[in-house]
Amino acid sequence: MNVITFASRKGGAGKSTLTAHLAATAHLAGHRCLLIDADPQGSLTLWQSLRPDGKPVVKSAARGVDGLLAVAMMEGYDFVFIDTPPTMWVVVSEAIRASTLVVIPARPGLFDLHAVRETVKTAQDRNKPYAVVMNAAPARRDDKESPVVAYARNHLDKLGIPVWSGQITQRAGFALSLAAGASAPEVDPTSAAAAEIVGLWTAISRSVDAVNLAHARATERGADPRGPDPRVLAPVASRAA
Ligand SMILES: Nc1ncnc2c1ncn2[C@@H]1O[C@H](COP(=O)(O)OP(=O)(O)OP(=O)(O)O)[C@@H](O)[C@H]1O
Ligand SMILES: [Mg+2]
Repeated sequence: MNVITFASRKGGAGKSTLTAHLAATAHLAGHRCLLIDADPQGSLTLWQSLRPDGKPVVKSAARGVDGLLAVAMMEGYDFVFIDTPPTMWVVVSEAIRASTLVVIPARPGLFDLHAVRETVKTAQDRNKPYAVVMNAAPARRDDKESPVVAYARNHLDKLGIPVWSGQITQRAGFALSLAAGASAPEVDPTSAAAAEIVGLWTAISRSVDAVNLAHARATERGADPRGPDPRVLAPVASRAA
């Protein structure tokens, strides 16, 4: 079972938005998915309540995530998506500790980039693979990314923080589809929004495969099952189409 946690100390970075779109995309691809809403704001729970088929199932983490994950493992889920609050509460470190991969959404601005460090530190302390995803970025022009995104990449690169090479653009479609209980690929699979989400999902699933392979090889060798430096395993996929 793979656990993907969306975490960032910064409010409004896009944790709930990305959790919902990606979980629905994984569900659409045929994976058995569970949502865990670890944020008392309940954004993910609200979105899920608007879905006609009630899937993926959502559980509230009012009493923490460990118990929910133990049950999810027995129930045979492929992926668990955890949405976390913009805090460093115990539930966030509990979720990070249980993660296969930690996704850190950040808007390409100074304050968001600064806030990323705390979450990165928590992931590093727990030896968990992590990567930043540029969210709500200005649109590319002639396939060139905006100066503010280039600045953000450069800034994070200097800190040695891995960043997904694609971007999730600021698009009303992302908010509108969530308001309808849907995800971008469900509303229009040919849209630019859908292409970005599918691109990010492809990157995440490849990274998860790489993490699991590294763990299996390390276990075979009798080495530390946590594997090598987690940063090298972070999402590396090509740009969203
Ligand atoms: N790529 C995007 N395009 C357009 N709107 C976006 C995008 N990402 C997020 N938003 C909007 O920004 C707001 C904050 O997003 P979201 O709730 O996902 O952030 P969050 O990190 O979960 O916030 P919190 O820390 O409060 O839980 C929402 O109104 C959402 O619709
Ligand atoms: Mg949220």
